[in-house]
Amino acid sequence: MTDHIYWKNGVLYLLDQRELPFRKTYVKCRTAGDVITAINNMTVRGAPLLGIVAAYGMVLGAKEVMAAKRSVRRADIARIAKKLGATRPTAVNLFWALKRMMEAFEGHAGDTDIVEDMLGEALAIHVEDIENNRMLSLYGAEIIDKGDTIMTHCNAGALATGGYGTALGVMRAAHEAGKKIKVIATETRPYMQGSRLTVWELMQEGIPVELVPENHAGLLCSRGVVNKIITGADRIAANGDTANKIGTFMIALAADAHKIPFYIAAPVSTFDKAVEDGGRIEIEERSAREVKYLDDRLLTVRDAKARYFGFDVTPSRYISGFITEKGIIKRPFAKYIRML
Ligand code: MRU
Repeated sequence: MTDHIYWKNGVLYLLDQRELPFRKTYVKCRTAGDVITAINNMTVRGAPLLGIVAAYGMVLGAKEVMAAKRSVRRADIARIAKKLGATRPTAVNLFWALKRMMEAFEGHAGDTDIVEDMLGEALAIHVEDIENNRMLSLYGAEIIDKGDTIMTHCNAGALATGGYGTALGVMRAAHEAGKKIKVIATETRPYMQGSRLTVWELMQEGIPVELVPENHAGLLCSRGVVNKIITGADRIAANGDTANKIGTFMIALAADAHKIPFYIAAPVSTFDKAVEDGGRIEIEERSAREVKYLDDRLLTVRDAKARYFGFDVTPSRYISGFITEKGIIKRPFAKYIRML
């Protein structure tokens, strides 16, 4: 499952995740503005993928400037990065990738095509992400026991990354190693990343999966149905506090109450050492419309007040370890995160 994002003849093709699992349609991005729209309207989502898409967005923006002015200045690139960075505030991979693209522009020697050089950097970010996911998945598979039932929340699969996935990558690697695992996927209201994306991805891989609303976490942990939990992350602070899809904290509490190991699988690009603790991570608040409506169907009283925070923060004390491409980070988290 690696055809969900590709670059062809100067156009970025994005598999429209809003239409999955029912239709496979692509959104074509020809400008940085198209990329901004695709991020804002959730055509694409997932922290590592947001970084990759934003990197290609920088290439498209540079191409536009070049076509209009025949040269690209630092101020032009900084302006495009600012607009792309104003889309979704929580996923640090987005800002990490924009910074890398800025550095690629600044390091440009001057005698080569700047747009081509920036495209080279975007492709490198994309390919490295897939490699990192494969690597962290191999490390992660080592902590999976034969016959484990693993719960996951939201979607941290190939679709949320350049390919292969983080939390789902670990499950794929364990499955490929013949560990006969079973996955419990939470629905993940209101965008339904779990029902629409995680279940679809796992079924394509032939990995047994069962769908539950996320309010089942307490019951399933208390009855011994789940014996490990692995999710992805959008931003990990220097002390290990982790922002991930809203509801993750609640699941971590249920895991803690029943002594079930709770792991975060994420590439090093998801760690934000500049942020001391989770209280300082900006939490995206999305439109109340996304809670009140399922597609175009109103689910509540028309004038009802509603709120929708996209993420929550799980304090590091509830986390058993971080599965990364450099290995598994155990306690003390702050010390090992500093060394990354
Ligand atoms: O709002 P989303 O769908 O972008 O949120 C995605 C998540 O919370 C994922 O768990 C996280 O980005 C990790 S994806 C490998």
